[in-house]
Amino acid sequence: MTKKIAVLAGDGIGPEIMAEAIKVLNVLNGQMNLGLEFENGLIGGAAYDVHGSPFPQPTIDLVKKADAILLGAVGGKKWESLDISVRPEKGLLGLRSVLRLFSNLRPAILYPQLANASSLKPELVSGLDLMIVRELTGGIYFGQPRGIRILESGEKQGFNTLVYSESEIRRIGHSAFKIAQKRNKKLCSVDKANVLECTELWREVMIEVGKEYPDVELSHMYVDNAAMQLIRAPKQFDVMVTTNMFGDILSDAAAMLTGSIGMLPSASLDANGKGMYEPIHGSAPDIAGKGIANPLATILSAAMMLRYTFNLSVAADRIENAVNSALNANVRTADIFSEGMIKVSTSQMGDAVVSALQNGAI
Ligand code: IPM
Ligand code: MG
Repeated sequence: MTKKIAVLAGDGIGPEIMAEAIKVLNVLNGQMNLGLEFENGLIGGAAYDVHGSPFPQPTIDLVKKADAILLGAVGGKKWESLDISVRPEKGLLGLRSVLRLFSNLRPAILYPQLANASSLKPELVSGLDLMIVRELTGGIYFGQPRGIRILESGEKQGFNTLVYSESEIRRIGHSAFKIAQKRNKKLCSVDKANVLECTELWREVMIEVGKEYPDVELSHMYVDNAAMQLIRAPKQFDVMVTTNMFGDILSDAAAMLTGSIGMLPSASLDANGKGMYEPIHGSAPDIAGKGIANPLATILSAAMMLRYTFNLSVAADRIENAVNSALNANVRTADIFSEGMIKVSTSQMGDAVVSALQNGAI
């Protein structure tokens, strides 16, 4: 059976890192006869330049008929002054929303080879393996009403709405508890229930959902404390579940614990396992076109795609192991480079992963 993958490279370093992920998938496809088929589409600023929209109709049609989507990154200086409704980021938000990709999995894993690249002491982060489950299609990102209005006094006022219905909280709750069951059976729900009614409800519903998962130990933490604990003692966490905006912020913090945001993949899933896979770093316009970006987060996103949408866990393991072998071979892109290592370009890093696959190092 063929597996249709929509490839949306996007902006900035997107095309460079995507080329490496496709290179790796093509090799694996040939080796294992996976039946992967790729079709390219435009998103973000690249789509705006051609169609005047960051998420144009041809891309909507493409992602709807695809089984999975692999995305690079969106955004850049060039489009920053556009109206917010057509900025590149809207393309990403539109994609999440149209496909109802409510469950965003953001693992933060520290590769032992990179322990020195973390901003924390090695003993605080060695062995770190945590998963942030971020609600992705609700909360303040999508709540209505929103906008900038002019008050009677003539002063401008910006406003957004934080809103979650019980059903939205319940479904992300189930997602997170199921993931916790497959890991260490510990789930920490992050909210601001001491101040925000919306997240008071979040906590109530999480407790209710938790009754269906008696094997999982549920705890709660306010978001300010969670941010502090992530930096103080990150290994106390296994799975964290939180709202759209808190998840946005905490996942960047968690990423840095691992040494480089350039290493971290993500999956955004709908209720049926269809998913969009992307590195959690952005389009990094400052280094775009230089061939120095780290492609590993995108390559690892491709592995997540094989695992979560296509249930090809052996193939996913092979990619993850090949990344590990590449790191063992001491090749490093600039973001994870340290003394004594071999500095390589984006495509050389892709080649290192490919050669690990070809050497059957796994
Ligand atoms: C992320 C990004 C996006 C978000 C932006 C680019 C819209 O920061 O995926 O974390 O805020 O969700
Ligand atoms: Mg973010």
